Amino acid sequence: MKVALFGTGLMGRPMVERILGANHQLVVFNRTREKAEPLKALGAGIAKSVRDALRSSECVILMLADGQAIREVLLSPSSRTELSGRTVIQMGTISPTESIAINTEVLNAGGDYFEAPVFGSIAEAKEGTLILMVGASPEQFERWSAFITCFGPAPLLIGPVGDASALKLALNQLIAPLTAAFALSLGFVQRKGINVDLFMKILRETALYAPQFDRKFERMIARNHSNPAFPTKHLAKDIDLFLGETGSMNMETAGLEGIRRLVAITLDKGYAGEDYSSLFDIINPEKE
Ligand SMILES: NC(=O)c1ccc[n+]([C@@H]2O[C@H](COP(=O)([O-])OP(=O)(O)OC[C@H]3O[C@@H](n4cnc5c(N)ncnc54)[C@H](OP(=O)(O)O)[C@@H]3O)[C@@H](O)[C@H]2O)c1
Repeated sequence: MKVALFGTGLMGRPMVERILGANHQLVVFNRTREKAEPLKALGAGIAKSVRDALRSSECVILMLADGQAIREVLLSPSSRTELSGRTVIQMGTISPTESIAINTEVLNAGGDYFEAPVFGSIAEAKEGTLILMVGASPEQFERWSAFITCFGPAPLLIGPVGDASALKLALNQLIAPLTAAFALSLGFVQRKGINVDLFMKILRETALYAPQFDRKFERMIARNHSNPAFPTKHLAKDIDLFLGETGSMNMETAGLEGIRRLVAITLDKGYAGEDYSSLFDIINPEKE
């Protein structure tokens, strides 16, 4: 199949390898073209423009940062004219409201659209073991699910467009509260001079344990948040998307709003592009 992929960031790059590994013909577009250039060596074509990429493809995979990026890249006046007859597969994390609006605009331009946001990070993208949540019609799912198995073995049809984005946000809003709670306990144990390995050993045996804790433990202890799997700025984005959705739902979100303030401090301290394990440095600063 002739495939285009827009957004060769942390997740887009390993996804390029999966597409090429499944023997599809691929052209990529990235706002900062130099970042996409190394993908040429793997066999991907590097498009000069969004229009060129769309013209040469049957479907386009979006792995862009957010809804605004999608609007700028896919829905600019010049790009819209190339959407007719093409299927847009939105795989980044955006809100259900944004996804439904983009769906309408793609349909109005004569294209086809469904969403397949992913759970998992760079390692899972490399291995092709992402959890794929699909918001689509049953017919779209039937037609496209075999293709997207290059990213994850068992795509799940959640419901129509919007439902998979909602489920993805429900999962992602867990990340910051879990991480903040773990960082607070870990910092407390450290300051009390108790052996942190003993703390982890006991924690692992309790119902409170989440594998997430071990994934971030070494980074927190070393205060090393470089080479992020998931940067703090995207953590903030996802909380904002969640709070944006719940704003009209009569739900009490004071807990998450507090965590959002903690994330805002983390961003202000310069950790936007670092891994979100950096929450630890704010919760448990080095110097008292
Ligand atoms: N990292 C993860 O573990 C993970 C896991 C699941 C889902 N996600 C979601 O997947 C999406 C991509 O994540 P990522 O980690 O790959 O992000 P990333 O490394 O920050 O890459 C973002 C991509 O979007 C492009 N972009 C950003 N703003 C743009 C704009 N205004 N116009 C055009 N292009 C723009 C960037 O282009 P430039 O190179 O020019 O900046 C880059 O290609 C996000 O929605 C994220 O929340 C991430």
